[in-house]
Amino acid sequence: MNNVRTMIATTALPYANGTIHLGYILEAVEADIWVNFQKMRGNICYFIAGSDAHGTPVMIQAEKHGLSPEAFITKMAREQLADIEQFGITFDNFYTTHSPENEQLSAAIYQQLQKAGAIIRKTIYQAYDPLKNMFLPDRYVKGTCPRCNSPDQYGDNCEVCGATYGSSELLDPKSVLSGATPEARATEHLFFDLPHYADQLKKWISGPHVIKEIQNKMQEWFDAGLQTWDISRDAPYFGFKIPEEKDKYFYVWLDAPIGYMASFKNFCAKHPGLDYDAFWKQDSKTELYHFIGKDIVYFHTLFWPAVLMASEHRLPTQVFVHGFVTVNGEKMSKSRGTFITAKQYLEKLNPEYLRYYFAAKLNGGIEDIDLNFKDFMQRVNSDLIGKIINIAARTASFIGKFFDNQLATQLTNKPLWELFIGKQSEIADYYETRDYARVLREVTALADKANEWIAEKKPWQIAKEQGGSEELKEIATSALNLFRILIIYLKPVLPQLALSVESFLQIAPLQWQDINTPLLAHSIKSFTPLMTRIEEKQITEWVQ
Ligand code: MSP
Ligand code: ZN
Repeated sequence: MNNVRTMIATTALPYANGTIHLGYILEAVEADIWVNFQKMRGNICYFIAGSDAHGTPVMIQAEKHGLSPEAFITKMAREQLADIEQFGITFDNFYTTHSPENEQLSAAIYQQLQKAGAIIRKTIYQAYDPLKNMFLPDRYVKGTCPRCNSPDQYGDNCEVCGATYGSSELLDPKSVLSGATPEARATEHLFFDLPHYADQLKKWISGPHVIKEIQNKMQEWFDAGLQTWDISRDAPYFGFKIPEEKDKYFYVWLDAPIGYMASFKNFCAKHPGLDYDAFWKQDSKTELYHFIGKDIVYFHTLFWPAVLMASEHRLPTQVFVHGFVTVNGEKMSKSRGTFITAKQYLEKLNPEYLRYYFAAKLNGGIEDIDLNFKDFMQRVNSDLIGKIINIAARTASFIGKFFDNQLATQLTNKPLWELFIGKQSEIADYYETRDYARVLREVTALADKANEWIAEKKPWQIAKEQGGSEELKEIATSALNLFRILIIYLKPVLPQLALSVESFLQIAPLQWQDINTPLLAHSIKSFTPLMTRIEEKQITEWVQ
C-alpha cells in the first residue's frame, strides 16, 4: 500500500466502579473490528483505552469494599481488562486515568485553559451532607419528585415522570449516604467557558466529524445555548488536585478524555520510536477516532473538542457514536434481569458468536442494538456455521483423503473467484464506514453462491464414481480458495476463527492484499471442525 495512514482509535474509558457488561463490549467490538481492518490494510493504528478511575462513585465503592481508592481501582482495572481481552479485543494500551501522565497532562491543559482566559470562578449553592461532611452530587440525593410527587427519586431526574431538575428542587431530600437532610451550602467552583467556543464548535461540527443525526442533535444544543461547565469538585473527592487551589479537584469528566492522551503517552514511553507530540499537536498529520455510546456525545463533541481548541491541540478526526444494547427488546437493567455482564456471557458461550452477532447488527448508525436470543442463535448457526464454515467442512476432507493434503495447481471456477475478489473494495468501504452489517450481508451472499456452485459440481459424487481425480482436486481446491477469501473478509470480525483457518491452511497471518493471490500447489493440514453450533440448551441454561 502506498498511502499508509497513521491513527489512534479509542473506546470510551469504562468507569472503574462498574463491571464490564455487554454494552461496553459492543463498543469495544465495534472499535476492535475497525482497528483490525485498518491493520490488515497495512495502516498504522494504535488502539488505546483504559479505566476511568476518578469520581465520587469510585470513592464510595472503594469505601464499601474496605479498600483505598487506589487499591480498588487497580483491582477493578485488572478485572476489566481480563474480561475485555477474552472477547478478543486487542488494545495496544489499556491504562488508567489515575496515572502520573494524566495528572501532569491535566494540569498542563488546565494551565493552558487559564492562559486562554477560559476559566471562570463562580459561587454556587450545592447540597451538603452535614453527617458525611461532603458535598453531594445530585445522584447522591433522593426525595420526592417536585413534578409528580413520586417518592424515592434521584436528585437529577424522576424515573416515573421523566422530569429533570437539580437536587435542591426535590421535596423532602435525603442524602443517600447518611440519610441526613442535605443543606444548601455556598462553594466557589471553577467553570470552563464553553459558550466562548460556540462558534468554533459550530464550524467544526458542520465538518465530516460526526454523522448527520448527531449534527442535528448538536444543533439543538446550540439553539438552546451553551452553558459554562463546572470542572471542579470539593474535597473529599477521588481525583487530581487542581493546581494552586485549596481542597479542589478536577471533576472526573475533565481528566477522563485527557486520559486518552495519557494512555497514549504511556504507550509511547514503552515504544521509544513514537513521537507523542506528532499525534496531538494542532497540525498533526495523524488521525484520531473516538468510539463512544450515545449517552456521552455531549462530552465528546462539545466539551472535549472545546478543551482541545482552548489548549491548542488537534481535534478528533471523527467521533463514532453507537446506540445502546438492549436484551430481547428491553433496556439492560439489573432490576429487570436483563443486565448481562461479560463474565456471565463467557461462562456459557464463545465470544466470537457475539462478535459475529454484534457485527451483523452494527451499521454505523445510532439505533439501539437488540440482542435477541433467537435471532442470535439463528444467525450464528445458519449463516456463520451453516453457510460460511460449511464451505470448508464439505470440501476439505477430499484433499486429505485423496490428495495427501496437497492443493491443486489451478482453479476451475475462475469467474466465481473473480466475483469474490471483485467485492474487495466495496467491502473495504463498508468496513471504513463501520457498516459491518453490510459486510456480513455481502459475505453471506457470496457464501450462498459458493455453496450453490459446490452443489452443482457434486464433488462427493465424483469422489464416489472416480475416486481421486484431478477434477475433484480442482473443485475442492477452488472451494477452499473461495472460503479463504471469505475468511479474509471476516477476519476483522472473527480473529480467532481466522487464526484457526490460518493454522489449518498452514499460511502466514492473512492480510487484505492476500485476496488477490489464490492458494495453489500448497500443502494444508487435515480438516478439523472450526466452530460448533450453539445448542438451544446453552441459551436456556444461560438465561437462568
Ligand atoms: N467513564 C465514562 C467514559 C469516559 S470517556 C473519556 C463512561 N463510562 S461507562 O462505563 O459508563 O461507559 C463506557 C462506554 O460504554 C460508553 O461509551 C457508553 O456509552 C457505553 N455503554 C454503556 N452502556 C451501554 C449499553 N447498554 N450499550 C452500548 N453501550 C453502552 O461513560
Ligand atoms: Zn416525577
